[in-house]
Amino acid sequence: MKVTVNDVSMDFPQGTSVIDAIFAAGYDVPYFCSQEYMSPIGACRMCLARIGAPRKDREGNWILDEESGEPKIFYFPNMMATCTTQVMEGMVVDTLSEDVKNIQGGMVEFTLINHPLDCPVCDKGGACELQDRAYEYGTGLSRFDFDKRHQEKHHPLSELITLDRERCIHCKRCVRYFEEVPGDSVLDFIERGGHTYIGTLDDGLPSNFTGNITDICPVGALLDTTSRFRGRNWEYQHTRSTGMDDASGSAIMIDGRTGRIERIKAALHPDVNKTWIDDGTRFGHEYVNAEDRVRSPLIRRDGALTPVTWEEAAAFIRDRLSGLSGKDIGIALRADATLEEGIAARALADALGTGQLDHAPRPAASVIPQQSPATLTDLATADAIFVVGDVTEEVPIADLRIKDALKGVTPPAMMQHGVPIADLRLKEHPVLQREKLTVAAPYRVDLMKHAGRAMQYPAGGEAALFQALQAVAEADDAEGGLRLDEAQRAGLGSSVEDATALVQRLRAADNAVLVYGGFVLASREAAAAAAGFAKAVGAKVMILGPMANSYGLELAGVGPSHARYAYPDMLEGARALILSNLDPAQDPDVRTQLEQKDFLVVHDLFITETAQLADVVLPAKSVFEKDGTTVNLEGRFLGVHAAPIEGGESEDFVGLVGALGEALGQRLEGRSVRSARRVLRKRFEIDPAELGPTGQLYRPKGRTTAKVTIRSSEAVDGNVLVTPSMLRIEYLHRNPHLNALSGGPRLRMGPADAALNNVADGAAVRLRVGGVVRRATVCVDDKVPPGLMLLPTLPEQPIGLARADLSTLVRDERELEVAG
Ligand code: SF4
Ligand code: FES
Repeated sequence: MKVTVNDVSMDFPQGTSVIDAIFAAGYDVPYFCSQEYMSPIGACRMCLARIGAPRKDREGNWILDEESGEPKIFYFPNMMATCTTQVMEGMVVDTLSEDVKNIQGGMVEFTLINHPLDCPVCDKGGACELQDRAYEYGTGLSRFDFDKRHQEKHHPLSELITLDRERCIHCKRCVRYFEEVPGDSVLDFIERGGHTYIGTLDDGLPSNFTGNITDICPVGALLDTTSRFRGRNWEYQHTRSTGMDDASGSAIMIDGRTGRIERIKAALHPDVNKTWIDDGTRFGHEYVNAEDRVRSPLIRRDGALTPVTWEEAAAFIRDRLSGLSGKDIGIALRADATLEEGIAARALADALGTGQLDHAPRPAASVIPQQSPATLTDLATADAIFVVGDVTEEVPIADLRIKDALKGVTPPAMMQHGVPIADLRLKEHPVLQREKLTVAAPYRVDLMKHAGRAMQYPAGGEAALFQALQAVAEADDAEGGLRLDEAQRAGLGSSVEDATALVQRLRAADNAVLVYGGFVLASREAAAAAAGFAKAVGAKVMILGPMANSYGLELAGVGPSHARYAYPDMLEGARALILSNLDPAQDPDVRTQLEQKDFLVVHDLFITETAQLADVVLPAKSVFEKDGTTVNLEGRFLGVHAAPIEGGESEDFVGLVGALGEALGQRLEGRSVRSARRVLRKRFEIDPAELGPTGQLYRPKGRTTAKVTIRSSEAVDGNVLVTPSMLRIEYLHRNPHLNALSGGPRLRMGPADAALNNVADGAAVRLRVGGVVRRATVCVDDKVPPGLMLLPTLPEQPIGLARADLSTLVRDERELEVAG
């Protein structure tokens, strides 16, 4: 459709909004209520322009202008909201005339009637859409000299978000966001007219995606409590990076000031997170600024850890390792290390002559799909989705992309100015196509409330579930499920009819996607059955790895040369260990093993239980302070960029290997990010230094299973199910706002189990689970199946079934203090 905006004529596809035509033509109109990826509703009336279009007569001919002979332009009698108007052939749009400027100035004046003049103390000052638009389009004067409306200025919507009700301009972005994006309708307008305010029900904001409203609120009404009053926008240094809290590879903006992280915001990645991030990613950064961070290398002298330089520490390590055979040394990294750190660790292992190299946590099965891998865009456009696990906690962005698929609107095409501002295909109060989604899990997970079908199978029963579904698929007829035996039926966690309908839907779909979480990966048998089922129904597969770079480290071969050298075995067998960001001493049996090591080096941010035993503690950079590369769950290489944060003498594993290489007199391949990238370039034909902001998808040639089969504890029975967690439990107590919101790590159990164990809701407890000593707060929850307790995962406690030793249960705070 040919449209003329002022003096620029362009063609646009049918359905384009006029506001997008204006921006695409290089012009501007102010707007407040429209927002990328949300429905346009025409609420703020700020985007007004003068619009005209030619008309046809009854015979279908254009009515011509008598003077020019061209089709005559008929203007709408009033200024039009351009966000809710779609382009028409021959449309003419005027955004520059005096009439338009007057009306826009009037709307600014009207919007400011009740807006307080507290810009000098407002956190949004300098990045406020109203402030900018008042400056650009306002008249500079107000004719309203009565007192402004006064409302509550510090209303905590939750521990994480503070609402200043006076500043709200009622654009409705926040209300629509909850309805349309996570689908949690937890916020609404209350009262009417000038009394209208934003409010919640009594239980605050029960959603995992609340922080996004602080990004999209056009004024300073909704603010991130963790950064409130901590800096002005022009003082922050903005660093675009990739979130390393989970495997999604979400784009984030790290805002730092005076060497601290003050806040994390979402950045745009149209194919991954759009402009959304989950609350764990947004608010889980406070630990980085903690006072008790290790800021210089420490070596043990006369029983005490003493600060030294990196050179001294490296020389000390060299001397102590020189008396050992290479085979006796183990090296392990946490699975959110960058690819460059993985390459550096491999180079160090080779230089020391050891095959004991691994990353952890590492599930029993591969995190790289061996057939038809799905992208997040495949997920967002799927016509049938089967999720096994708790995706909302595991990779929250995948949860949002599934909800995109349920809305049935394909991702918008990018325009000259980026993402369309007003995508007219999106509607307020969207009707979800729930029948597309089936969710299976051993307990009631959040995504089930959006699913057409829910299957609650017995904990640890993933292999049985897939074997039963496979049997249905192989029967290849509508009655296939009816031929299942009793045991197979019990494994389904749903009716046979539902299972049959699921298989048929997946088979019939053009783009079916299976999402397999940690419960499937916890057992090789389940993973093999899940792969067989994917083949049987011809679906694409998305695997949710346990940590941000599980995929990349497996792809780069950061693993042992023999099964008996894997992480759990090296803890037992190696005489010397170099551990990066891992804390295995939380298991008292492992602690005893570590106490007997000849030499222990710990690279970490804090003096963990393992660091307390170490001969050398090296200060580690947090994930926000590193330069490197990560690979997300799609297989997409993404850049990780260092924000300027004061971490003392912290180094990442690349820096550690550089220092050790110098002490050893060797130029190791991973001695710097640049040298590690030379290896990556050769191996993957991708140059990490050249990655754009959206990264690059990589598809391995051939199969990529790890060289050796990793031994794992595949517990098939247990009384605790270790579950995925959006929150990083290992840092939770150093993230005070998230900790207050969540009440700390929760041990969830049903009322009967709570009575049996003599614990009450809210009780602080400590117990050994799968060997690891865990502290938690009891949460009595009747949705937890009887005989089972749910506990969130730690890097040292992977997802899956575990056995809790109930004789170790210590029940309340007082007892905990006495027991130490
Ligand atoms: S709180 Fe912010 S986003 Fe919500 S309606 Fe008010 S101005 Fe809009
Ligand atoms: S009416 Fe608010 S942006 Fe158009």
